Amino acid sequence: MRTLRDIPALRETLDVHRQRGQRIALVPTMGNLHAGHIALVETARRHADVLVATIFVNPLQFGPSEDLDSYPRTLADDQAKLAEAGCDLLFTPDTTMLYPRGLDDQTRVCVPDVSEGLCGGARPGHFDGVSTVVSILFNLVQPDTACFGEKDYQQLAVIRKLVEDLHFPIKIVGVPIVRDEDGLALSSRNGYLDPDQRATAPRLYQTLCELRDGLEAGEPVATSLEAGLARLRQYGFEPDYLELRATDLAPVTAATRDAVLLVATRLGPTRLIDNLTLTLPR
Ligand code: PAF
Repeated sequence: MRTLRDIPALRETLDVHRQRGQRIALVPTMGNLHAGHIALVETARRHADVLVATIFVNPLQFGPSEDLDSYPRTLADDQAKLAEAGCDLLFTPDTTMLYPRGLDDQTRVCVPDVSEGLCGGARPGHFDGVSTVVSILFNLVQPDTACFGEKDYQQLAVIRKLVEDLHFPIKIVGVPIVRDEDGLALSSRNGYLDPDQRATAPRLYQTLCELRDGLEAGEPVATSLEAGLARLRQYGFEPDYLELRATDLAPVTAATRDAVLLVATRLGPTRLIDNLTLTLPR
């Protein structure tokens, strides 16, 4: 696997592959890779001849009081994992390479509607930062396919709309959540949890499963969500939101069948997100 740090080298290398008629897949990441990222790489591998991963801790998607500075940076370890998973090229730009004018003067991409509410409500500007960096990476790599995790459910919806609205000729593939044995969704931020918090964290997924079972059995939505929030608070979580939406993130109506429970919460200083799809009864 080759690691490239600058844009001209990336473009030149990819041009050669494109001229050979090879299909390119992209897996954008912020590094500190775990089995969830490796599942993205393995899925992407099946869609392409050349697999490009990127590692860039994107300052544009972090709020002023968020964990940009402490976000784990583990490049050597990540390179070894990517090479083992069959990645061909790793692109690791720095901030001045991607945003040469500085963050304040950077042209931004905003995907309306789907970026609002949920994590977009709790983290103002977050999805503009994601949409901007993903658009830049799409322009630089020009992949045929790009893979994103379903754990970031709203992010995936934002990127699908971005690709449609900006007419990027890219197939977006969502990859299912990878969980620890106790159900906790894998996340780079799980490393922030102390042993007590780590022991509590699986209750998030357990609560989602209990709510799903109740909702699928016809329990009323509003009281179920209130009870879910109360249960999470009892366990020590501080939820930003717990919502039921249609799978396209539209509000649930009497006609909705395919739905998704979405949660974001703090556990101590750590922000966790998770989601679970379900089928509402007629
Ligand atoms: O999901 C992530 O890791 C990031 O939001 C992404 C898509 C790499 C953009 O920085």
